[in-house]
Amino acid sequence: MINVQSLSYTYPTGVSALTNVSLSINAGETVGIIGPNGAGKSTLVNHLNGVLLPSSGSVAIDGIAVEKKSFENIRKKVGVVFQNPDDMLFMPRVIDDVLFGPLNLGMDEHAAHHAAEDALHDLGLGDLADRPPFTLSQGQKRFAAIAAILVMKPSMLVLDEPTSDLDPRNRKKLISLLNSMAMTRIIVSHDLDFVWDTCSRVILISHGTIAADGQCHTILQDKVLLESNDLELPLRLQQ
Ligand SMILES: Nc1ncnc2c1ncn2[C@@H]1O[C@H](COP(=O)(O)OP(=O)(O)OP(=O)(O)O)[C@@H](O)[C@H]1O
Ligand SMILES: [Mg+2]
Repeated sequence: MINVQSLSYTYPTGVSALTNVSLSINAGETVGIIGPNGAGKSTLVNHLNGVLLPSSGSVAIDGIAVEKKSFENIRKKVGVVFQNPDDMLFMPRVIDDVLFGPLNLGMDEHAAHHAAEDALHDLGLGDLADRPPFTLSQGQKRFAAIAAILVMKPSMLVLDEPTSDLDPRNRKKLISLLNSMAMTRIIVSHDLDFVWDTCSRVILISHGTIAADGQCHTILQDKVLLESNDLELPLRLQQ
């Protein structure tokens, strides 16, 4: 359902961030995308809903090429929570940010309000619905950004570095939430224990290319592979 073919991307500054990346992800898969800082992970996931368009190669979702004319269709299917939640929260109140997507998709106002309240409630943010987003803590912003995507019920959920600002209890809460879902999940993370707990497959990105793609626990136990790509074993496997 996600098909990336020979994808290369060079930023306007001339930085070549991805080179000839090909992968496919089937419906319902849970895929961790790992790799050191600057490897190209965010660049890759930002191609999945057309935030970035390939310099060469192609990206298709359910057989539909990701391009300007398919954005509306693609964004109904693929929900990307950006690495920086500030990039997603720009309305006067948290509830308005969560309402934005459903209203944009044409949901009627009553149903949209209902869905937005449910999404905020599921993430424990019910009490913050009327707060201006900029007054939220980082972790609260992260959950608000996730609520703003989940409310649209995408069939593919992409989370870029979701645990970087969560406390241990909210991190566990996110693990439970993700593991209770049936949708395709793609999780970019440096928190390899989180990936261990939420993904069955891992793709390792290094210097803009795929260094490994396979079973999650096999890759995350491969100390030589991880260290040769500037990563370390998950904490639970470190002595
Ligand atoms: N807007 C941009 N303009 C120019 N270069 C960029 C831009 N964003 C990222 N890059 C460069 O592209 C490369 C890949 O960056 P990317 O953000 O995809 O890495 P990442 O794997 O997500 O890293 P991190 O783990 O730090 O989030 C890096 O060399 C980075 O400096
Ligand atoms: Mg990134």
